[in-house]
Parts: sequence; C-alpha cells; structure tokens
Amino acid sequence: MAHDYKSKPRDTFGSKFGIIAAVAGSAIGLGNIWKFPYMAGANGGSAFLLIYLVFLLILGVPAMMAEFTVGRKGRANAFTSFANLTGGSAWKWVGMMGILSSFFIFSFYSTVAGWTLGYIVRTFTFTDPTGPFVQPEGYFAQFSASGWLPVLYQIIFILFTALVVKLGVTKGIERTTKWMMPVLLLLMVIIVIRSVTLPGAAAGVSFLFKPDFSKVTIDTCLNAMGQAFFSLSLAAGVVLIYGSYVKSTDNMMTSTASVAISSTVVAVLAGLMIFPATFSFGVAPTSGPNLIYVALPSIFRNMVGGQFFALLFFILLSMAALTSTISMLEAVIGFVSEHFHISRSTAIWLSIAAVAIFAIPATLSFMPEPMLLPSWLGGKTVFGTLDFLTSNILMPAGCLLTVLFVGWGPGRKWFRDEVTNGGTIGRRWYKPLEFLLKWVTPVLVAVILVWGVL
Ligand code: PHE
Repeated sequence: MAHDYKSKPRDTFGSKFGIIAAVAGSAIGLGNIWKFPYMAGANGGSAFLLIYLVFLLILGVPAMMAEFTVGRKGRANAFTSFANLTGGSAWKWVGMMGILSSFFIFSFYSTVAGWTLGYIVRTFTFTDPTGPFVQPEGYFAQFSASGWLPVLYQIIFILFTALVVKLGVTKGIERTTKWMMPVLLLLMVIIVIRSVTLPGAAAGVSFLFKPDFSKVTIDTCLNAMGQAFFSLSLAAGVVLIYGSYVKSTDNMMTSTASVAISSTVVAVLAGLMIFPATFSFGVAPTSGPNLIYVALPSIFRNMVGGQFFALLFFILLSMAALTSTISMLEAVIGFVSEHFHISRSTAIWLSIAAVAIFAIPATLSFMPEPMLLPSWLGGKTVFGTLDFLTSNILMPAGCLLTVLFVGWGPGRKWFRDEVTNGGTIGRRWYKPLEFLLKWVTPVLVAVILVWGVL
C-alpha cells in the first residue's frame, strides 16, 4: 500500500502547551495516582521513589524522545509511521505492538476507571451504613464482584472516552486536556494540604522522603523500572501518534522534559496525599492495590469535610484516567482510520466494540468465581492476563525495539537531525542522549523483558 503521508494536511496541536497537556494527560493517570503510592508503599517508600526517578531519567526520557521523533518524522499512527520510515519493512510490526498494547491496556484500565465512577456516585450517599465510606473493605469486595454494575460504569467510561476522541485532536483532545490538567493539579494540592495537616502526618511525609535502603531488593528496582515505563505511556503507540501531530519546528526535548517532570510531580503529590493520611489513621502503607479504594474511603470518613474531599478525589482520579484512556483510544483509532481509509467515527465505533470484547470479561474477573484462561495461556483471569501481557511483554519489547530502531537501526541516520531540529536546538544534550539510547536504555529494558517473561 502507498504511504503517501506528505500529500494531505495533518491535524496538528494548536500550541506548545496543548502538546504538553495532551502527552502529560496521557502519562498522568491511574498509574501515578493509584499504582505509584501502593508500589512505593510496598517497596520501601522513599527508596522506591529515588530509584523510580533515576529510571525515569535514564530509561524513560530517552525512550520517549525516540518515540516522539519516529512519530513526528513518520507523520502517522505507530504502524504506518514505521512503515513510512522504512519503506514498509518489518519494523512496522513494532508499531503494531504499541497499538495492541494500547488496545489491551484500555480493556483492563477501563475496569479500574469504571470503579472510580462508581465511587463518585457513592460519595452522595456518604453515610450509608453499607457504603464504601462506612464499610470500605466489605463494600469494595462486594462492589467489584457484583458483575453488572461495574460493567455498566466501565461502558459509560468507554463511551465518554469515545466522545472526546470523536471531537478530534484540536477540538477534543487538546481542548479537554488543556483545562483538565491544571484543575487536576489544583485539586491534588487541596487534598495534599488537608492530608499533611492531619495529626501524625509527619510520619507519612518522612516515609516518602527519608530513604530506607534496607528494603531495596532486585524486585524493588525492577518494579520501579516497570513503573517508570507504564507511567510515561511508553511503547503504547501513544507518544508516537501524538508526536505525529507536533509541528516539525517544536522542541521535543523541552516537551519530553516537561512531561517527565509533571508526571513525577503528580506521583509525588499522590504520595503526599495518601501517606500522611494513611499514617495518621493507622492504615498500613503496604496494603497493596486496594490502597485507594479501601484505605482512602476510611480516611475520608474520619476527616472533617470528608464527603467533599472524597468527591473531589474521585472526580480527580476519573479525570486523570480519562486523559489516559483518550490517548489509548487515539493510538488505536489513528491506525484503524488511516490504514483502512475509514472515517474517525466509524473507526471509533469499531474499536470500542472490539475493546468491549476484552473489557467486559476483564471487569468480570473480580466475580467470586471468575473465568480463568487455560494454563498454557498462564491460567490467570482476563484482567490479570491483559495486565501481564502488556506490562511484562508487549511494552518492554516494543520499547526495546523502538530504542534500537533509532540507536542502531534505520532511524540512526536521521535521529540526530530530527531531535535537534536540524542542529538548531539542544546540541549539547545530544551526546548524552545518544549514549543512553545506544548503551544504557536497551540493556535496562532487556533486563525488564527477560525478568518479566521468566
Ligand atoms: N501512563 C498512564 C498512567 O500512568 C497509563 C498509560 C499506559 C496510558 C499506556 C497510555 C498508554 O496511568
């Protein structure tokens, strides 16, 4: 097929802030607000934070630059961009791996995002004796296992996502993320202020900032690496397709730095929101993935103005999740509409119908006796399988190959020119970036991949 990408004008982001807001919106999500605190809680707190930051810098940033440039130069979705840049060679399947990651992540991420909507609704019946704020543990177990209700919320969430994506890049994605991101930050700061002024909050603050290296194991490092990866939305076709909407005169180095910094700030704010309150109310920071859905409601219940803060918090969490799911769907429908030459709307409907096939069983994985996959497919639930497949296989592999593409493969010929805008910007950053991309990032990512599959 012909990849004549230069002939038709392509929608581009209207402003630099728009690009940063959209990419940061994708990066900042349940990964930062829900996953980061519980991962940090289970992995020694501040030591985890430090290691995560190091990996973000030496792995996440170079990999993001690689993806950005492939998208901006390829001027299409992940699959077609690689095809455009290599005359349709097998490299395009690297792009396809990213698109598949987004497709599968959307399927299980929408489960957790749907729960968030359920909790927003429940804040209006704050004092209900059977609700999440009075019986956090019992309610979460019963709600997540109840079948149709979480599925309904999940479908609503998927439709919301489709609606925004349907409006297109400038009107939908850029306009929405531009105001959502600042509101999100503001809401987080309000909750942080409430949390750090609770009695006994200091223990939580020092848990986050005073490193205890005795808890660091190889697993801590590997988890931190995976987290750096997932939280920057790498190897999911997302940064790549957003890169294709960036003007060739924009500075991708500063955009990447802004996204990495804002994603980190949100993760730290999430920690500051959760740990002081956790310590203040005697909830174990190591309580795991249910930290937000079980521990936070009990914190809200014991807080002056708890109902208000609970409402703010769950709205914030669903907004963060929405700007991430928007990017996943864009990565998928960008491919479907461009490759099969169909309209964006048709591509959206087809894609969400296909997502539903995986998404509904993912939500039903929390039923009392969920369907398990056959043992040759891992024997996990659909939710567990999709999570494993994306985080441990597709994303590390896709990221490794993308980095190799610009460091050693066909992309090495133009990478320098593309990333420095023809040698006009960031020349002194280029050498260290090239070194990381060639020698450091691929080795680290290979380690995650091998570890993840073993
Ligand atoms: N980065 C998002 C988060 O932290 C998750 C994500 C992964 C989004 C891959 C898009 C693609 O929640």
